[in-house]
Amino acid sequence: MLERRRSRAVNAAIRVRTPREIRSARRPRAHRCWGHLVAAPLWPMHGANLGTLLRTCDAVGACLAVPPFRWVDEALARGNTLRRPACVHRVGNPLRWLAEERRAGAAVLGVELADEAVRLADLPAARRRTVMVLGHEATGIPPEALDLLDGAVEIPMIGTGSSLNVAVAGSLVLYRLAGLV
Ligand SMILES: C[S@@+](CC[C@H](N)C(=O)[O-])C[C@H]1O[C@@H](n2cnc3c(N)ncnc32)[C@H](O)[C@@H]1O
Repeated sequence: MLERRRSRAVNAAIRVRTPREIRSARRPRAHRCWGHLVAAPLWPMHGANLGTLLRTCDAVGACLAVPPFRWVDEALARGNTLRRPACVHRVGNPLRWLAEERRAGAAVLGVELADEAVRLADLPAARRRTVMVLGHEATGIPPEALDLLDGAVEIPMIGTGSSLNVAVAGSLVLYRLAGLV
């Protein structure tokens, strides 16, 4: 009884915003480059994951860095259900690019089940340009790239699966880095 009354009180305070109200809280124009946050699935295997990540990038104000392959462009075009294009960078040589980003002062953060990784709940929002590196769907982040990371973040799991879908993992970490959750 008390439970039902409490849930009615919560429901009374919740009002769904109209599409117009939601739109008015968004940016009026697409950004050419957000700069502060970059999601980097640099060794992708499935195009559908790139489309999902692109939408999360738009939602949190991040850029997407991908390899310059024709199938990647086609997958992004297919998965891009946004009215305005999100910011996409083409990275020809992932290792060189990550090293350059570090030299230029960006934090390079791996999303991986790794020793010494911080747990997602302990990850602070990004205070400087941060490149969030995601691994290959089957083999994870290559060992040569692990050497270029400033740190890693792990999303705890208690189920029987060995890992999350890469777009789900990347989206959770992006929201955290953006300070939106
Ligand atoms: C499907 S997983 C790759 C698993 C692969 N079998 C391996 O051994 O590394 C693809 C990518 O998703 C991300 N990922 C998936 N689950 C994760 C988790 N629980 N914590 C952090 N990253 C995760 C990582 O970037 C990982 O490289």
